[in-house]
Amino acid sequence: MAKPRVLLTRRWPGKVERQVAERFDVTLNESDEPLSQAELARAMGEFDVICPVVPDKLPADVIAAGDRTRLIANYGVGFEHIDLAAAKARGIAVTNTPGVLTDATADLALTLILMAARRAGEGEREVRAGRWTGWGPTHLNGSSLKGKVLGLVGLGRIGIATAQRAHHGLGMRIAYYGRRECLPEVARELNAEFHPDLHALLAASDFVSLHIPGGAETNGLIGAEALAAMKPGSYLINTARGGVLDHAALAEALRSGHLSGAGLDVYPAEPEVPEELLGLENVVLLPHLGSATRETRIAMGERALANIVAWAEDRPLPDRVA
Ligand code: DGY
Repeated sequence: MAKPRVLLTRRWPGKVERQVAERFDVTLNESDEPLSQAELARAMGEFDVICPVVPDKLPADVIAAGDRTRLIANYGVGFEHIDLAAAKARGIAVTNTPGVLTDATADLALTLILMAARRAGEGEREVRAGRWTGWGPTHLNGSSLKGKVLGLVGLGRIGIATAQRAHHGLGMRIAYYGRRECLPEVARELNAEFHPDLHALLAASDFVSLHIPGGAETNGLIGAEALAAMKPGSYLINTARGGVLDHAALAEALRSGHLSGAGLDVYPAEPEVPEELLGLENVVLLPHLGSATRETRIAMGERALANIVAWAEDRPLPDRVA
């Protein structure tokens, strides 16, 4: 029997590309350029399995464009770029890669907390531009972290891993907002305070870090009102999804000094970065690096592959989301 045809829409680490090639008839996107909507639509009629990445949009019309694909094995944990209802309606299974990028993303949230608090981006730009005039008692003073409240919006896997690092590593106090309280052992370990009201959490936090999934339910959750509810002089960190945040309102809060700083890894229309943020010194802007470690990117490929193998062997899919 012919091997199932599998499309990787972007290049994966060589080690996992070879593993996929051993088991399946794989097509690689040699140029590593993002595929157009037309190319993705064509692929639905040519491949049994498509492995998209987070920027590959798969709306209903693309999903309906062909009738060969049986599995969309997403290379990534977030899946709001895939119309799950449309996939389900056509009997196409969808999987993701949970768990394996938790530590890398939490590490990056910490990177942003530290960079924003200690004005590391500003300092780096100053040194590289030859503008540094030497040590001084008032030069680029930032914020200490010990004893400060880190408020997490969403306490899932990545939120917990971020809180552990901040609490045990930096001595921060932990508070969180979520749909429900976390497990008692997690609350005990982190000495975490639950806020059932989002604005109450925002008002109580020196640093706010977003850890909620993207999509219709959370779009614009942190808008002008929520930003106004944040403590004056506090910081906002976003490693979740760009759509959850109103960037024009954030720019205004940073310009007016209501917020001391922000650290962002994600944006609503990547790779575009909202113009109004680019000229501001007090925001750290990273290019969606949350899961970008060699080890994590291999683990993500292996996790996607485990789902493809399960599908090929007609077993339950380990990470099925639709
Ligand atoms: C994901 O997997 O959803 C991440 O955003 C990729 O880093």
